[in-house]
Amino acid sequence: MAQSYRCALIGVGKAESMGNVKGGGHQIAYTHSNALLADDRMELCAGADINPENLAAWRTRFDVAAGYADYHEMLRVEKPDIVSICTYVGLHRVMIEDCARAGVKGVFCEKPFLASPADVRAVREVAAKTRVKITAAHVRRYSVVFELARQWIAQGEIGEPLLISAGLPGWDLSEWGSHWLDMFCFLNGDVAAEWVFGQARVRDFRGYGHAMEEHGVAYVGFKNGCRGVLDGGQALGQPYTMLVTGTEGEIRFCNGENGPYFIHTSRSGWEEVAPPAPQPLWVQNFQKSFNALADWIEGGSEPTIGLSTALATSELNLGAYLSALRGDRVDLPLTDFTVNEWPLEALARKAKTAGGVTKT
Ligand SMILES: NC(=O)c1ccc[n+]([C@@H]2O[C@H](COP(=O)([O-])OP(=O)(O)OC[C@H]3O[C@@H](n4cnc5c(N)ncnc54)[C@H](O)[C@@H]3O)[C@@H](O)[C@H]2O)c1
Repeated sequence: MAQSYRCALIGVGKAESMGNVKGGGHQIAYTHSNALLADDRMELCAGADINPENLAAWRTRFDVAAGYADYHEMLRVEKPDIVSICTYVGLHRVMIEDCARAGVKGVFCEKPFLASPADVRAVREVAAKTRVKITAAHVRRYSVVFELARQWIAQGEIGEPLLISAGLPGWDLSEWGSHWLDMFCFLNGDVAAEWVFGQARVRDFRGYGHAMEEHGVAYVGFKNGCRGVLDGGQALGQPYTMLVTGTEGEIRFCNGENGPYFIHTSRSGWEEVAPPAPQPLWVQNFQKSFNALADWIEGGSEPTIGLSTALATSELNLGAYLSALRGDRVDLPLTDFTVNEWPLEALARKAKTAGGVTKT
């Protein structure tokens, strides 16, 4: 019989869902919980949250007896094998370190993954030291649509990839944009990014515990010559459309991964490819993620959502903000790990002291 895993959550989600409103309250922990409950290999044993109302609502909803106000105590008492971290980015590093030092075997951490270059270095170090397996919730890597597109690109269906572009109206480069930057890397075969230029309009909006831009842009150069452009704030063409332009054709995703999506090549002309029917459920991406982590713990190879790609996407994401802050291109991988805060905080301070920031 396959090994089973005791799983616990840190940050169980707001008692009332805020839906898709930017700022938090999406209850992503509920998706983690549903994925764990649907999987025979996983046992949802406990949750920890500093907010008693949120904790009570989650325990009732998922019928979990063990709830803790302090996640340290949960780690000590429950000794979980796998921990899902479902809190905001500013808390991830310390929680990952605490899990690793408590002997947790696998951590599945929400995105945006890490808040600063200093966090990147610290998490890389704790993983090397403790051997804890860390994955990030870049779960679109398990979306059928994107897996298929990655295959098409690798097989040369559109020639060499030249440009991947997308726009996220009303959103940003990290809370939603980190998914899209990660998809750029994924579709481009996880070829390393060499540099990133970023620019951001930051005012006083805050969400997910941190400063957020009103509008941000990242322009990425990958080692194979492919470029990426992400508009975090406004649509590029149709809302949520993503384009992969190659030397011999193009792939167009409409409405994100929800399709329909299209492939065009010089050989076949435009071909509409319907999304798979029935559409795989979103929660299944999380189930696949938990299983990939378990396989890795059991000696399998690092999964596509593993620390290597998680850190690469995180550096790209942070690099775009650092570029905006410095007014310079940021070369990757990062070599300077001294910055120890979410770079948008510095951009927000800069905008405030510059005065007149409300002028457009
Ligand atoms: N993977 C995805 O597709 C996806 C979708 C939505 C949100 N997210 C990400 O998930 C993260 C959580 O967002 P959300 O909107 O679901 O959160 P939420 O606002 O619903 O819940 C966050 C929870 O964390 C708890 N918390 C805060 N500090 C804590 C601490 N020190 N210890 C324990 N619990 C603590 C809060 O009390 C709250 O219950 C964000 O980073 C967000 O970007 C990912």
